[in-house]
Amino acid sequence: MDVIDLLLAQHALIRDLFDEVEQAAPEQRGEAFTRLVRLLAVHETAEEEIVHPYARRKIDAGDAVVEDRLAEENEAKQLLQQMDQAGVEDPAFMDNLLLLRGSVEAHARAEERYEFYKLRAHTTEAERRTLATGVKAAEAMAPTHPHPGTESATKNMLMGTPIAMMDRARDAIRQAMGTKS
Ligand SMILES: [Fe+2]
Ligand SMILES: [Fe+2]
Repeated sequence: MDVIDLLLAQHALIRDLFDEVEQAAPEQRGEAFTRLVRLLAVHETAEEEIVHPYARRKIDAGDAVVEDRLAEENEAKQLLQQMDQAGVEDPAFMDNLLLLRGSVEAHARAEERYEFYKLRAHTTEAERRTLATGVKAAEAMAPTHPHPGTESATKNMLMGTPIAMMDRARDAIRQAMGTKS
């Protein structure tokens, strides 16, 4: 598995999950939103831990490209944290969801254009396979449509605030990549 393909597939999945939250009946909205938060948490954390550091070294003006992406990610993270705190019952939830979607999707497009395609041109297949290991380890913590009976195990792995999920995902990624101290 190629890390770039994997991340592009996650971008598509994130768009699908935004659709699901938007279209969910009010009583199902919370569960759909939790799936979205989980995937965003593992996706952005995997990029921060694995892909951005690599891009800094491998692509032209890598530091500047990555700093711009981190600023976008932080903006989205703050809104996500706010929405999670206010809950899906909050009257502003759907408006905030649109804002979040706009910011996350613009960020994903910038990543694809300025980072991923360049990274693909400047890395070998073997490098991209190695980088995929950590992304896959994180992704396993965020099944988007879990099989019956596995949901509670997943919940134990990734629950709480978005920040808590990101911390947990970071641990799993470092363990998978052998960089845990
Ligand atoms: Fe990102
Ligand atoms: Fe991304």
